[in-house]
Amino acid sequence: MSFLRFIVVVLFLVSVFGSSNAQLSATFYATTCPNVTDIVRGVMVQTQSTDVRAGAKIIRLHFHDCFVNGCDGSLLLDNATGIESEKAAPANVGAGGFDIVDDIKTALENVCPGVVSCADILALASEIGVALVGGPSWQVLLGRRDSLTANRSGALTDIPSPFESLDQMRQQFGNKDMDSTDIVALSGAHTFGRARCGTFEQRLFNFSSSGSPDPTINSTFLPTLQGICPQGGNNGATFTNLDRSTPDNFDNNYFTNLQNQEGLLQTDQELFSSPGSDTIAIVNRYASSQTQFFTDFASSMIKLGNISPLTGTNGEIRTNCRRVN
Ligand code: HEM
Ligand SMILES: *[C@@H]1O[C@H](CO)[C@@H](O)[C@H](O)[C@H]1NC(C)=O
Ligand SMILES: *[C@@H]1O[C@H](CO)[C@@H](O)[C@H](O)[C@H]1NC(C)=O
Ligand SMILES: *[C@@H]1O[C@H](CO)[C@@H](O)[C@H](O)[C@H]1NC(C)=O
Ligand SMILES: *[C@@H]1O[C@H](CO)[C@@H](O)[C@H](O)[C@H]1NC(C)=O
Ligand SMILES: *[C@@H]1O[C@H](CO)[C@@H](O)[C@H](O)[C@H]1NC(C)=O
Repeated sequence: MSFLRFIVVVLFLVSVFGSSNAQLSATFYATTCPNVTDIVRGVMVQTQSTDVRAGAKIIRLHFHDCFVNGCDGSLLLDNATGIESEKAAPANVGAGGFDIVDDIKTALENVCPGVVSCADILALASEIGVALVGGPSWQVLLGRRDSLTANRSGALTDIPSPFESLDQMRQQFGNKDMDSTDIVALSGAHTFGRARCGTFEQRLFNFSSSGSPDPTINSTFLPTLQGICPQGGNNGATFTNLDRSTPDNFDNNYFTNLQNQEGLLQTDQELFSSPGSDTIAIVNRYASSQTQFFTDFASSMIKLGNISPLTGTNGEIRTNCRRVN
């Protein structure tokens, strides 16, 4: 498929999914902050030049924001009176990128003060971060407003853990009206970025108290991982690539890895190695067609960004993403 046709398909999908949330719109800031995309891109390009994980960090924040009380910037709030920061929930401890959001916010406040929400910054910077390293582009819908509260217990229950079963993942994504195609397509974001030993080392030596490693890890890949995260080692600060083949590019090699039993997280490999699962055919489809993966990823990202946004006069536009005004 040519690039032009790809764009046409994405625009079509935007028109379909975009209409599911009539309040968000691609032109929301056309008169109030016309240069918003260039400003966000400027900071992302600058940051990416010194931190290859910039895009990976940001898209993960967007995901963790949207899965807790919708895409409302709640994840970005620090502890304060009446605010139990979501950053202290296990899924978010160690997450990076909050400083990048601050830099983008500062750049925007300089040009259009009080106009662009922190929730929209995450949505815009996610698309830019993916496209910057070879991934698809899509038209980002805008107009979200920022929450006045955080929900730490929601971050505990609603964000998937890397140790859970595919059925648990289906439940959590299903709660957000997302299906198997969304789970597989969005898991493809693990085509870039890193994970700490603590998120996958339970697979390496004594998986599920079996006395043996996870049998769905490729036997030639296993010693590599055991070397990175030795049993009983001091692995707290150690991390490795989520995509061992092309760690910093956004491509479909993540799915080839799964076919080779070289997924990093238990939840990655389960998509391909759960007998009888409908996710297997989807993994195979994306492994054989990057175009199909990109098209589906873009539409699932729009779906993700549409989860229960605050709009109209609800919430506020924060001037500092870490605090309510
Ligand atoms: C399907 C359920 C998912 C689970 C269980 C999961 C779990 C994880 C874990 C455990 C890490 C490593 C975190 C760390 O070491 O601190 C990680 C990293 C990451 N996740 Fe996911 N994730 C899931 C879905 C997603 C989705 C939907 C996206 C985005 C669309 C995403 C994007 C990322 C990225 C880009 C990184 C690397 C971040 C970095 O380098 O800082 N993940 N994920
Ligand atoms: C828009 O922002 C970019 C990046 O900051 C800047 O280079 C450009 O001059 C800006 N354009 C306008 C019309 O302000
Ligand atoms: C926020 O408060 C919790 C306790 O409620 C604490 O565990 C956590 O470390 C605090 N986070 C920061 C960044 O201060
Ligand atoms: C926090 O998240 C949980 C789980 O989604 C939800 O049931 C609860 O209503 C939320 N609480 C607030 C105050 O938004
Ligand atoms: C594996 O873990 C289980 C439960 O934690 C333990 O009883 C067993 O001895 C362990 N096996 C090995 C080989 O370490
Ligand atoms: C293990 O990985 C190698 C190299 O990527 C691959 O050729 C082989 O087919 C994989 N084995 C399995 C069982 O997937």
